[in-house]
Amino acid sequence: MSRSSVIAFAAAALASLGISHAGGVRLQTDLAAAAQQKPSGPLVEVFKTPTCGCCSQWVEHMRKNGFNVHTTDLVDLSAIKKSRGVPGDVQSCHTAVVNGYVVEGHVPAADVHRMLKEKPAIAGIAVGGMPIGSPGMETPFVKAQPFDVTSFDKSGKLRVFAKH
Ligand code: CU
Ligand code: CU
Repeated sequence: MSRSSVIAFAAAALASLGISHAGGVRLQTDLAAAAQQKPSGPLVEVFKTPTCGCCSQWVEHMRKNGFNVHTTDLVDLSAIKKSRGVPGDVQSCHTAVVNGYVVEGHVPAADVHRMLKEKPAIAGIAVGGMPIGSPGMETPFVKAQPFDVTSFDKSGKLRVFAKH
């Protein structure tokens, strides 16, 4: 290699380093933007027990459907259910709150979206128990059970909100 071609080679190497450095900076900016890009949907505060697997599956279902989910693990959820007025007949494994509404149990995300859009005069909606096949309760090789989403108001009055 002649002296001039060594210099040209070094210059080219520096230039390529410069480009890759700039690329690196751009990548970092993209990552930072992605990290800040929280789901834009409504915040769902979920209270669940630390060992509940189906609760975590439901949280995933909600995240996949655009909700921004925050979870709190509690050993005993009875105080939350009582303070939020979840009627005994429709209690389930986890209790969530979104825009002031209670969402109890394995309620499909589409029903939560519908409630937030229609803003009915209710305290919340619930899927009582844990029906097989409801979101987060999908069980391989086990037939899904039909289930209702039930709305409840402050007085504890129940009504069918959706059938599945
Ligand atoms: Cu469950
Ligand atoms: Cu649960």
